[in-house]
Amino acid sequence: MTAVGIDAIEIWTGKLKLDLAETFAPEKGEDPEKYTKGLGLHASSFPDAHEDIVTMGANAAHRLMDRKGLTPDDIGRIDVATESAFDNSKPVSTYIAGCLEQVYDEDFHHANKGERKFACIAGTQSLDDAYNWIKAGRNRGRSALVVATDTALYARGDPGEATQGAGAVAMLISEDPNLVEMSAEQGYGSADETDFLKPNQQFPSVDGKRSMQVYLARMREALEDYESVAGASHPEDFAYVPFHTPFPGMVRKAAVLAYRHMIRGTPIEEELAEEIGFQPREEDFEDREEYEEAIRDYMDELSSTDDYREWYDATIEPTLSISREVGNWYTGSVHIARAAALKQAAEEGRDLAGRKLGVGSYGSGAQAEIHAETVQEGWKDEIEALNIDEQNAARYDLSFDEYENVHDRHNHDKTIEMEDFTVPDGEFVFTGTGRMNERLYDYVE
Ligand code: COA
Repeated sequence: MTAVGIDAIEIWTGKLKLDLAETFAPEKGEDPEKYTKGLGLHASSFPDAHEDIVTMGANAAHRLMDRKGLTPDDIGRIDVATESAFDNSKPVSTYIAGCLEQVYDEDFHHANKGERKFACIAGTQSLDDAYNWIKAGRNRGRSALVVATDTALYARGDPGEATQGAGAVAMLISEDPNLVEMSAEQGYGSADETDFLKPNQQFPSVDGKRSMQVYLARMREALEDYESVAGASHPEDFAYVPFHTPFPGMVRKAAVLAYRHMIRGTPIEEELAEEIGFQPREEDFEDREEYEEAIRDYMDELSSTDDYREWYDATIEPTLSISREVGNWYTGSVHIARAAALKQAAEEGRDLAGRKLGVGSYGSGAQAEIHAETVQEGWKDEIEALNIDEQNAARYDLSFDEYENVHDRHNHDKTIEMEDFTVPDGEFVFTGTGRMNERLYDYVE
């Protein structure tokens, strides 16, 4: 069977930065540690005046195609995953293809283009669509371009304002990939939930605390479903476990839940029982609430054990390093978590080829999906080509007043002029709107 998976990836961050501890927290009258320790976030990325979901996605895709020496004829489909689209009919992928056609001689007229929507999980769903298209033999030797691009803005004053972000991840899905092969086995946890939604409005209606509960409940369901096809998982199965990362604090909660699930009935649970007892079993409780309280207590104790801490530091912490600096990228979040982990492995000189990743994606509304990926021989060269650290360091550091202007500039209900903070250089830029209210873009040399 031919291996299918992610051949290469490129990341593009919004070119502005809001420092949460230094700039945001003092204005809100809050302790900076709520951000750095509680949520686990240092900064959020924002788009400059000339940036939006199209420019960020096109810039990531252009860099990826250039690096891989690809032309439009090599691409058979372009899928964009986003929850920040500005058009209910024309997909963002057509705009991105239009941008790319400005810089290539060929066009994408024979590529299938679409847009995927299911909150933050749409990026992973687009990977699935590409995987299935190739496995079905419909790709004619061509690859798929998947672009996850979002400007994650919340209404001013909403608690979600602390977890904003903007950026794009472009991924090339191919046969015999260089980075990771995706597993055929998948698990889903999906239910009709009202935790985060945007009913024809730009900024989300969000019940933040509820969304955290729903994330955990759906993720647990997805893990059970995954195990029903792939067999029981063990903490040592995976070199890294990248989760959807709206903010690192959310992943801390998901990780302890996953670890508890994976060690149940194993020698690890038995060993730990001397220190913290066995896991509460539902059948030992008459009342569901009592059981849930006992589980919470067990997980609190579990998260302080050496076994757990060692697993967390090795398997989860490395997935958070990019997210911590850029905030929530919605559809791109789980994909920057994978990149962050592989980046750290490359920096540490680890040999990961053949090792597995357990990837946990989530989208509000709500659905979680878990699949495994096998790291391929060419992974290191692909990951070493990323320049996200340089991009992050080059971002313009906003004052609070400037942040307020940037938020207004990207608010669809406001029309404000704002000078660029950065100078475009070899990138696509937004130039205004046309006669049918379409958005217009140019490539700046
Ligand atoms: N030092 C250390 N930790 C601190 C702290 C301090 N000074 N102040 C607060 N914290 C901790 C809190 O205890 C909490 O951690 P916990 O959940 O482990 O208890 C965390 O920081 C966040 O503080 P909290 O008061 O709960 O923040 P909030 O009420 O402003 O809301 C969210 C946080 C996540 C609910 C909010 O940002 C949100 O709605 N985000 C968007 C929705 C989202 O991303 N959902 C995730 C699922 S997709």
